[in-house]
Amino acid sequence: LSFAFMPCKTILQPRASIKTQDNENVTSYRTKVARNPTMERLQYNYLFPEISAREAQHVKKYPNAKVISLGIGDTTEPLPDVVALSMANYAHGLATPTGYRGYGAEQGSKELRKAIAETFYKDMGIQDTEVFVSDGAQCDISRLQLLFGSNMSIAVQDPIFPAYIDSSVIIGQTGDVETESGRYQNIEYMKCGPQNSFFPDLSKTARTDIIFFCSPNNPTGHAASWEQLEQVVRFAQENGSIIVYDSAYAVYITDGSPRSIYEIPGAKKVAIEVSSFSKIAGFTGVRLGWTVVPKELMYSNGFPVINDFNRIVCTCFNGASRIAQAGGLASLSKEGFKAVISLVDYYKENAEILLETFKSLGLRAYGGVNAPYLWVHFPGSNSWDVFNEILEKTHIITVPGSGFGPAGKEFIRVTAFGHRENILQASDRLTSLLK
Ligand code: MLT
Repeated sequence: LSFAFMPCKTILQPRASIKTQDNENVTSYRTKVARNPTMERLQYNYLFPEISAREAQHVKKYPNAKVISLGIGDTTEPLPDVVALSMANYAHGLATPTGYRGYGAEQGSKELRKAIAETFYKDMGIQDTEVFVSDGAQCDISRLQLLFGSNMSIAVQDPIFPAYIDSSVIIGQTGDVETESGRYQNIEYMKCGPQNSFFPDLSKTARTDIIFFCSPNNPTGHAASWEQLEQVVRFAQENGSIIVYDSAYAVYITDGSPRSIYEIPGAKKVAIEVSSFSKIAGFTGVRLGWTVVPKELMYSNGFPVINDFNRIVCTCFNGASRIAQAGGLASLSKEGFKAVISLVDYYKENAEILLETFKSLGLRAYGGVNAPYLWVHFPGSNSWDVFNEILEKTHIITVPGSGFGPAGKEFIRVTAFGHRENILQASDRLTSLLK
């Protein structure tokens, strides 16, 4: 490969304390309020806004360039009519005396909870009353952190979706970052890479209260097999831990791997599942997700976790938008589900094109089969350098792997969400750069 990387000087910059988030200079007046020390502990800006800022800088530098984003995993294809019309009709109903509704149930509408239980947890014994509808998985991750509090010990896959680590830092579960390793103290990092086929060695993993586990993993795209997920459940049972299982990309699984943790016998006693309509139904902008908390899941004192989660939801959330819920329900109807799954298939074809491109270039690309993400290895390189080089020379946005954890430092993540013509053009540009 004739691919010379830029020197390693453009790594993510620590947050500048004298600027606001919009990069404006602050005034000299100060309150007497001390900054939350856990916020101080965060090393960098949140990953995706940082990528957007890099994109904006790049557009400023090259105003005529056609930038293609293979960065944040944002859906691009229009909603199916049946889904959009259900939201439009619901919204229109709100303008009529008979159709107007105010607050809904904090946990979501009974109909939608039932539809989620029947669509995604059929024959797994999950009841509608164990499903909590939300405004998205990311918000539920923070609500779960509020539920657990600062005294929990946690384990994460390394790499993992960055909200898990950042919300743990913010809630106070971690110590400071160790500069050498890039790891926060008090987090058990479960390294996942090509060396262990993206599944952690649990015999070397310390016991923690909470285990955050995403399958398919974002960013690596690895879906845990039946045997691997059984191991995770057994590990939690033996240690008396709670698994927070993120299945936001489960509909992309095609190789027969489990799509829910509750497919594993005994999981209801040890696992919470967080999921989302974002990548199933193109709801990144509509905002709708859910969390399942089984009634069988208990704290050490025998108190049901679901009661506390319900308390958190009622205190910190007033329920998902009724309009979004109407859309969610329509997307789970027979016609709606068929339509949204055809969009999933479209993104999966994009992933195949990208996978083929990287493979033909002799690069090791993982994922892309059970997930809309590809995890591309650049051995010996720094992921921010690779990100910068690709952006500078092809005007393509990717995501540097180190944004997902220290184990990502030699990787970039490439999303398969995008219009087909952009995916094809991106493949051409990458081929010209990397061949
Ligand atoms: C991603 O790109 O990993 C996610 O889609 C971003 C998000 O869900 O916030």
